[in-house]
Amino acid sequence: MKFKEVYFATTNLHKFKEAEKIFSKYGLNLKHLNFKTAEIQSENLEEIAKNSLNQVLSQHKIPVFVEDAGLFIKVLNGFPGPYSSYVFKTIGLKGILNLLGKTRNREAFFLSVIAFGSPSGEQKIFTGKVLGKITFKIRGLGGFGFDPIFQPKNHKKTFGQMNVEEKNRFSHRAKAVKKLVKWLLFKEKL
Ligand code: IMP
Repeated sequence: MKFKEVYFATTNLHKFKEAEKIFSKYGLNLKHLNFKTAEIQSENLEEIAKNSLNQVLSQHKIPVFVEDAGLFIKVLNGFPGPYSSYVFKTIGLKGILNLLGKTRNREAFFLSVIAFGSPSGEQKIFTGKVLGKITFKIRGLGGFGFDPIFQPKNHKKTFGQMNVEEKNRFSHRAKAVKKLVKWLLFKEKL
């Protein structure tokens, strides 16, 4: 089935802009649905995303997706992971840098999980991951969240020092959104 319009339900405009740029690159129009979901507490991003999607679909009968992301730090056994939003609001970038102190192993990754659903009941999950490291200092003013302390593997800049196009070349979200777009385009041909 072909979807004329696809909505991204999020209150985060940074996330929307990142996704919109990818949609438009593939000639698709992405609509914004400013919808705040009550995020359930779970250790599983997919479970969180699916729950949020169903909250949106219970009120809006449209083809729509939600996205849930987290930062997983190796020496902290994956913390903050699914608690990234709360940790960002409470201890923030400085708190993470303090937790790591002078630790040399600063490996981390971002994971993005997209849950797409349509009024017909069809639901699909798409994921994206980017490996990198936590910097020793805050670098850059761009982006949002942990962008200024995350440096993707094999790159010199942090996400905070990149513009949206650059971040979209490597990011977890861009990878997940591209998978969604390719699936949508494939469906168009059916
Ligand atoms: P959310 O629950 O998907 O909104 O993401 C949880 C938290 O992870 C957010 O509050 C951000 O602090 C952080 N986060 C998610 N995605 C990104 C990203 O692309 N860059 C930086 N931080 C992010």
